[in-house]
Amino acid sequence: MARAKISLIGGGQIGGVLAQLCALRELGDVVLFDIVEGLPQGKMLDIAEVARVDGFDVDLKGTNSYADIAGSDIVIVTAGLPRKPGMSRDDLLGVNAKIMSQVSEGIKEFAPDAFVIIISNPLDAMVTLCQKVTGFPAERVNVNGIPVMEQLVRKYGNEAKAQEVMTAMVERTKMAGGEVVKLLGNGSAFYSPASSAIGMAEAILRDQKRVLPVCALLTGEFGVDNYYVGVPCILGAAGIEGILEFDLDNEEQAMFDNSVAAVKGLIDELPTILPDLADVLKG
Ligand code: APR
Repeated sequence: MARAKISLIGGGQIGGVLAQLCALRELGDVVLFDIVEGLPQGKMLDIAEVARVDGFDVDLKGTNSYADIAGSDIVIVTAGLPRKPGMSRDDLLGVNAKIMSQVSEGIKEFAPDAFVIIISNPLDAMVTLCQKVTGFPAERVNVNGIPVMEQLVRKYGNEAKAQEVMTAMVERTKMAGGEVVKLLGNGSAFYSPASSAIGMAEAILRDQKRVLPVCALLTGEFGVDNYYVGVPCILGAAGIEGILEFDLDNEEQAMFDNSVAAVKGLIDELPTILPDLADVLKG
């Protein structure tokens, strides 16, 4: 069986961890692309130096040329600016949209059959942009839940305590990215986004039919039409093979609608940031 090929666009913090995880898990041959000369070559050489110690056998290549991503089964995009303390993910829209449109052109030209996984903020807008520019089918462009209340009630024995714990957990989860940004001082989380993307790549390459939270194109699910939103999906060899729709209570539906409205607001801004792509973005 031919070995899979995984290309990583963006050789920064997340790109480097992704390359190492791909190698350690022997997911396939790996190409690391970046616009900075020497950076991807240096990182790949660094990882390759310990192939014998780590016991992996895959080809690793660092490059500044899109031609090297030809024949990729999976492309994972991490090119873009990370958050600095005090910034929200949405503050990155202008700069990351320009980078994402360039990267998407490169993928469209050199890796037209690949599945694309995106780690760039603001996530939902970046996935939408990539799908529009590449024109790839929605199930091939993914990004990186189910009720816990019952389990908490069982654990704490009463609903009030369970609700208190739940609220604290939700708040901490919502703010976790910002917490890491604040602690690092100069950059955003990279181990956890890299692991999530590798989980997705592995589910596709090994046809695991695994349920993972994915930013997927909704066509009526959860009352949303034609927007990318994070929902639980089944990932397998065909990419997004199913969306797990489940009932939301009124409060959950209101929070979900609020989040979708924010995504719509960002997507509506894209034609102003990328006027050359206004027609593509409308389609
Ligand atoms: N094409 C390819 N690579 C690019 C481009 C481009 N047009 N522009 C920037 N890059 C590269 C940078 O050279 C850098 O090596 O993207 C890399 C980003 O790496 P880091 O700055 O270390 O950022 P990282 O922490 O890896 O985060 C990457 O994830 O959390 C999101 O918003 C964040 O979009 C960012 C992404």
